[in-house]
Amino acid sequence: MKTITNMKNSFRIAFVIVASIVMVSCFDSSKPNYQYMPNMYKPVSYETYGEYEIFPGGLEAMLPAEGTIPRGWQPYDYPNTTEGLNLAKAELINPLMVTDKSLANGKQLYDIYCALCHGVNGDGQGILVQREKILGIPSYADPGRLITPGGIYHVQMYGLNSMGSYASQTNELERWQIAQHVMNLKATLEGTPLLAPQSTVPTETVNMDTASGNAVAEH
Ligand code: HEC
Repeated sequence: MKTITNMKNSFRIAFVIVASIVMVSCFDSSKPNYQYMPNMYKPVSYETYGEYEIFPGGLEAMLPAEGTIPRGWQPYDYPNTTEGLNLAKAELINPLMVTDKSLANGKQLYDIYCALCHGVNGDGQGILVQREKILGIPSYADPGRLITPGGIYHVQMYGLNSMGSYASQTNELERWQIAQHVMNLKATLEGTPLLAPQSTVPTETVNMDTASGNAVAEH
């Protein structure tokens, strides 16, 4: 009886040893381990940037449909040409009401984005000019320039020669606020009256939706 039990035990021990060797020997630490329930690991849905034949181009990340516009985007119809700039100077008007807040925001944004070239007071003597890093920055009072709100907006949209575009850094509202501040800098340089902030809201005025930066009509 005793020998039989001993034999059974040694079989068991042998089995456990062999089984462990079999299991351990197949494990390769450089490869992913066995997945017992693969659907717990592999997503059913398509993965971002995954490659799947079903998509045109074979990629899950597709371009937006043609004609798609980002939220808050407004069409700007003046072309990026000298004629476009001159037309914007002549006929594009600032739809934004002048308030203490719009002027203060305009100044803050101008000091961030524009002053390094144009100077805090718009005389074309920004820090980059003083350090001779850039040349040809005009003063806003330059009589040959004819600076108007529409022109200021236009050059922010497209840039002008060595000046870059600010269309992606600022929204429509902010560009018009900057335009107000630039007009005030020009007026200060020329000694003409500044824009007067309106304290009372006129009955019908175009204002801007601060969240989206879009122009909205207020009644
Ligand atoms: C990297 C330097 C630089 C920065 C920053 C810069 N500008 Fe300019 N800006 C220029 C240069 C250079 C010109 C002259 C371009 C030309 O006429 O060739 C110019 C011209 C202008 C003009 C005159 C356009 C005209 O009608 O002739 C305006 C207005 C203007 N910038 C506004 C701005 C505003 C507003 C900002 C900030 C949002 C800004 N600039 C930021 C370099 C800069």
